Parts: sequence; structure tokens; C-alpha cells
Amino acid sequence: LGAGPLSGRHAIVTSGPTIEPIDPVRYIANRSTGRQGHAIAAALAELGARVTLVSGPVALADPPGCTVVRVESALQMLNEARAALPADIAVCAAAVADWTVVNRSTEKRKKKIGEPPPVLQLAPNPDILATLARAEADRPRLVIGFAAETEALLDNARDKRQRKGCDWILANSVAEGDDSSFGGADNTVHLLDGESVESWPRMSKREVGRRLAQRIAAALAE
Ligand code: C5P
Repeated sequence: LGAGPLSGRHAIVTSGPTIEPIDPVRYIANRSTGRQGHAIAAALAELGARVTLVSGPVALADPPGCTVVRVESALQMLNEARAALPADIAVCAAAVADWTVVNRSTEKRKKKIGEPPPVLQLAPNPDILATLARAEADRPRLVIGFAAETEALLDNARDKRQRKGCDWILANSVAEGDDSSFGGADNTVHLLDGESVESWPRMSKREVGRRLAQRIAAALAE
């Protein structure tokens, strides 16, 4: 640490799923191992950045050289990401649950024979990527998000980039029967920077992390 093209830079990376409690023993969550987000955090640190990794529950070791902040819910993830500002770079790789359970119970809900199952009342979660990308005072210079799509990958990714207000989108297909990125060690991504689309060959998530970190370093050096 200290040397490297990203020394003196601060990066915030979100990774893993968020979980939204139903009661003390149950939750709803998104499917995510955190492998890609953690690999990006590690690669940024390798290039000398100070990295704050805000992670939902994952079964991965902390990447070397990163400050890891563990959270559960989307709201906690947003608060910790904001608390870590200012930053030069934000990479939102977390699979954030779209909804939180409004009528969560502080006690375990009982199953009662003959009674209907409970109805969960859901409310939308804050969008962490959009919040960071639209921050007024301390927007990171480079805000990067992911688009995991099952269809019309690049069109949806372009829309998403506009909608969220971020600078770059890494698009990857998660269609069934595709070389699924979920859970695996490899990933096939397209980088949309607003001007062009760069399609990267299939490579390990570690390599995707390294390549993205290099790309970030080059962009910030301009
Ligand atoms: O809207 P969608 O979930 O498809 O967008 C994916 C991108 O937005 C990812 O970069 C993800 O980390 C980010 N996101 C977020 N907060 C949310 C939902 C998505 O940061 N509540």
C-alpha cells in the first residue's frame, strides 16, 4: 500500500446481498456470493487505493488491505456507504434487496394451525447507486454500477446508466442456460462508459476486478 496508481484515492465498494428481516429468525434476501464485489475491492487496494468495503452477509474472507464494514439491510448499507464519503470512486456491486419488510416483527412469528400465513407488507429500499451518483456535495468522481439482466442486456444497461446517473455500468447476463455469473468464479462483462461499449472476454472475477481497477486508474489519471 502507499504506492501504485491509485494511492491517495479512496474507493467505496458495496458487495454481497442485503437481507431484510421478517422477524428475528427469518429474512428475505437476494442471491449473491459477493465474489465479484470483493474481487474489485481487493484489486483497487492492490493498486494502492484506500478501500472501504461495505458488505452484506457473505462467506468470504475479508480482502487484504480493505476496511470492511459489515451490514445486513439495504438501509444500513446506504448509511455506511454515505458515512464513508468523501470518496473518489464508488463501485456498487451489491445485490441489494428491492424491498424491505415494513411489518417486521420483533418476536418470532408463530405458525398457528388453521390460521392463514402472515402477509408481508413491503416497501421499496433506497437505491444506493443512484443516491451516490446524485449526491450533491460529495459525489465521487467515478460512480460505477452493475446491470445483471436476463434479456436485452445492452439496451437495459444503457437505460440503467441514465436512470441511476452513474458514470459506468458493467453489464453481465444472468439468463438461465447462459454462462451464469451467479455464484461462479468467472464472469463475462461489457463496460458501458456512455460513449462506447467494451466487451471483455470471459475471465475470472478476480481478473474482472483487476481490469476494472486498471481502467479506473487510467480514467482518474486523465
Ligand atoms: O436496479 P438494479 O438492481 O437492476 O440495479 C443494479 C445496480 O444498482 C447494481 O450496481 C446495484 O449494486 C445497484 N443497486 C443499489 N441499490 C439498490 C438497488 C440496486 O445500489 N437498492
